[in-house]
Amino acid sequence: MTEHFKMDAPATDRRLDDMAQGLVGAPLDRPEGPLKVSGTATYADEWQVDGLAHGVLVRAPGNSGRVVLANRNAVARMDGVLAVIDDDRLLRNPAQGTANEAPIQGPHHAAYMGQLIAVVVAESFEQARHAAQSLEVTLEGGTLMPVDPTTAAVEPQESKNLDQGDLDAAMETAAHSVDAIYTTPSHSSTPMEPHASIATWEGDDLTLRGSYQMLKYNRNELADALGIHPDRVRILSPYVGGGFGSKLGLAPEAVAASIAAKQVGRPVSVALQRPQVFEATMRRSETSQRVRLAADAEGRLTGLGHDALVSNLPGETFAEPILQASHFLYAGANRRMSMDLARVHRLCAGSVRAPGEAVGVTALENAMDELAHEIGIDPVELRRRNIPEKDPESGKDYSSRRFREALDSGAEAFGWADRPGVKERREGEWLIGYGMASAARVNVLMESQARVTLLPDGRARVETDMTDIGTGTYAILGQIAGEMLGLPRDAVDVVLGDTALPPASGSGGSWGASSSGTSVYVACQAIRRQLAERLGGEEADLTLKDGSATFDNQTRPLAEILDGDEIVKLAHLQPGDTSDAVRQATFGAYFAEVAVHAASGETRVRRMHGSFAAGRILNAKTARSQCLGGMTFGIGMALTEELAFDPRDGHVANHNLAEYHIAVNADVPQLTVELLEERDDWANPMQAKGIGELGICGAAAAITNAIFNATGVRVRDYPATLDKVI
Ligand code: MOS
Repeated sequence: MTEHFKMDAPATDRRLDDMAQGLVGAPLDRPEGPLKVSGTATYADEWQVDGLAHGVLVRAPGNSGRVVLANRNAVARMDGVLAVIDDDRLLRNPAQGTANEAPIQGPHHAAYMGQLIAVVVAESFEQARHAAQSLEVTLEGGTLMPVDPTTAAVEPQESKNLDQGDLDAAMETAAHSVDAIYTTPSHSSTPMEPHASIATWEGDDLTLRGSYQMLKYNRNELADALGIHPDRVRILSPYVGGGFGSKLGLAPEAVAASIAAKQVGRPVSVALQRPQVFEATMRRSETSQRVRLAADAEGRLTGLGHDALVSNLPGETFAEPILQASHFLYAGANRRMSMDLARVHRLCAGSVRAPGEAVGVTALENAMDELAHEIGIDPVELRRRNIPEKDPESGKDYSSRRFREALDSGAEAFGWADRPGVKERREGEWLIGYGMASAARVNVLMESQARVTLLPDGRARVETDMTDIGTGTYAILGQIAGEMLGLPRDAVDVVLGDTALPPASGSGGSWGASSSGTSVYVACQAIRRQLAERLGGEEADLTLKDGSATFDNQTRPLAEILDGDEIVKLAHLQPGDTSDAVRQATFGAYFAEVAVHAASGETRVRRMHGSFAAGRILNAKTARSQCLGGMTFGIGMALTEELAFDPRDGHVANHNLAEYHIAVNADVPQLTVELLEERDDWANPMQAKGIGELGICGAAAAITNAIFNATGVRVRDYPATLDKVI
């Protein structure tokens, strides 16, 4: 029997309060960590499968036209080659759009340069690669399609528009105002582990060893692409070497491996080569954002405008949700927001590292810095003055919001009071500046299922198709089960990443830990009730600790109480409609010190601090690591990260980690993170909100604002490379 749990009201009387075991919140290590760093965790393309053949994908050389493989028969006869496949199902036709966020693919028609249009299968990887490189691909009837979002056809996203009060009038009568355009380039997700799949068929049943974030959706996508029933598909992703959005939806290699394996009658491995990850998975859209702020003489916002231009392929529905946090972060009675989607023939745009806020809050926070300077008040004080009492558009309360505390505590921890005036501090050839920005991100709960078994020996097993993409799922789900069942962490086995297990929320949008964690909580709660029943009492009177149950002043080991039985509970969390009642979001503040070289314009981040409030922290170590990762990507976004497209045909010019510059160790100074204690009954029974992506939602603005403080130069076009600083 399934335990159903609907999260449609505050969890006040059904929550995980501190229990005897003391595991939730503890900074415990990730149990799979040693396997990963010692090379013994098996990633997708590392499985040893008998009789494995190898597939290499082939790219389109232009962005339109019918694909013609002129020498396919000759290539098919090359040494070791088993098949040259351009099956219709290789991926969906662009005209049909796509499920979820898989990049569009049509084997017979190119939509963007680099699109994967065929797979060559051979005995060895080297033979497959050689044959794939020998395939002559031409595009018949193709002309160059538009690739520049600033001149391409635009579709207004009217459902995203907001018009409240009169922003124009507010701007005209404002004592102080800012009206500026900020641009951010495309970003690539850049997981360390490239997308890879090994497909194995047994009769009509497919097993795919892949690297994905949301297995239940990925299974449906794969079945849909192949035209078979989802029950025929099993996906295994026990370890995922990073996703950052690019593995939310199916990538091209999964379908290619599945079709190829069926056709050649052997297991087939297809791994994207690094350039293909850049060219043919997905990108964050570049953005152009006009931010308007109107304020009275004291810096109280009277108006806030945010108009965004983003892009995607024709037919794709995803539009980088720039405006998400602009709706609720600051006050201002007169508000206008709009979103335009330009149609360009560049690779598919989708979710990359905090879609929306990562770039949207960044632009807003740059504008706030400009306003503070214009008014002549402290940037922290400007934020403090504009924290709205209620949600400024809906009038709803915030479920929890320690935003002011994050600003104050972060400023204190960083030493913000020591902030120099603009262009005031110099150390030799280096100009020193401080900058800050707010952090904000929506909070989401997703449907999720888990099965928990209390075994006869008193150990427990947690099973769900949830993934751990490096975020700490193995650790956190074990902590929740251990806490609820009174077991030490190592008495709980957590089994993940297999669609044969109960379907979970998957990892994305910062919802993973709270959604999958809630399903584990609900299952454990049911086990506690059953244990109490066995003892003839109520769950509330039961204390579980270190593998024993105390009830009615008697303590007995669980194994003795179970007497050879096991207790199995399956739980199903369904998010309710709490969003109608309250605004749920996470908040924080970043502080950065930069040194800008007076002659070259080179910027080094010297130190950076973040204070964050995201409800209850489930594991202080993994939560901190998520924030460190977000801030690290913020450094790259501010200074170096840019996916560069050829303006003629839209091909990705810097399709490797040597030329696509994410922040590396030498770019990252001492980072400090403070997690503010917070409980949110509206979020879920753990009172935890999502923290996975909060660390990047505005981080880059703290750095560019610090560059202004150091140099007096406003960089409004990311990244702030040296040519723009000097
Ligand atoms: Mo995230 S970009 O929703 O994996």
